[in-house]
Amino acid sequence: MAPHTQQLTAAPAVQLRGLTRSFDGRTVLDDIDLDLPAGQFTALLGHSGSGKSTLLRAIAGLDHEVVGSGRLTAPERVSVVFQDSRLLPWRRVLDNVLLGTNGKDAAEKGREALAEVGLKGRERAWPNELSGGEAQRAALARSLVREPELLLADEPFGALDALTRIRMHVLLRELWERHRPSVLLVTHDVDEAIVLADRVLVLDRGRIGLDLTIEAPHPRSYRHPLLGEYRERLLAALGVTEDHQ
Ligand SMILES: Nc1ncnc2c1ncn2[C@@H]1O[C@H](COP(=O)(O)OP(=O)(O)OP(=O)(O)O)[C@@H](O)[C@H]1O
Ligand SMILES: [Mg+2]
Repeated sequence: MAPHTQQLTAAPAVQLRGLTRSFDGRTVLDDIDLDLPAGQFTALLGHSGSGKSTLLRAIAGLDHEVVGSGRLTAPERVSVVFQDSRLLPWRRVLDNVLLGTNGKDAAEKGREALAEVGLKGRERAWPNELSGGEAQRAALARSLVREPELLLADEPFGALDALTRIRMHVLLRELWERHRPSVLLVTHDVDEAIVLADRVLVLDRGRIGLDLTIEAPHPRSYRHPLLGEYRERLLAALGVTEDHQ
């Protein structure tokens, strides 16, 4: 595979300048500048309450109370995936995937997206008939069908068991290889970040405390020798010492 850096184009998909968000006078995001190049797979780490979801919501255009001294630009086609699948229980899986889409070949695209995430044959299942991992696959299919230029994912694997998580990592990376959206993946998990992403950001006290490019070939295993050093730097940025592990 060609190095991913060759895929990056000059125009950033996301551009934030002076992004600030406060809640009741408490500043959560403090004058953030950030560019996400088109097609880059970026992970966002930070302690609970550090503002990761707040930043994601701002980029998704879901937060109308952010202020910025400058620009907040993001692509038109943005998909968001959350920790829970948010499938509507009264609609079958394919109908959930198609929600809000139209066009005469929409159903066909929905079927293709379900096949891509390994849910071929489950189109007519009800959401409560799916396992947690399958429901997250359906949520990924729902985001794919919109052909997003930017995929925002807020701890999408946070509720899954370890084995299912690893399978989902492989799937997400494969989908990214095939479709090349810009990805911003919020996670608590340092290993998830360094196995999946080519750039890892650490949010700390309202700022991007560390911006690390991960240069190791894919697919990466958790035990990849190159990843140890990145892991240490990220844990240090998060204030986690060896004693805490
Ligand atoms: N609507 C809101 N009203 C008041 N405070 C809020 C609101 N949304 C977020 N906050 C506060 O902003 C801070 C950042 O919240 P956010 O949800 O972005 O954190 P997070 O990094 O995503 O945490 P976690 O890892 O636990 O999901 C928290 O202190 C939270 O209480
Ligand atoms: Mg959050």
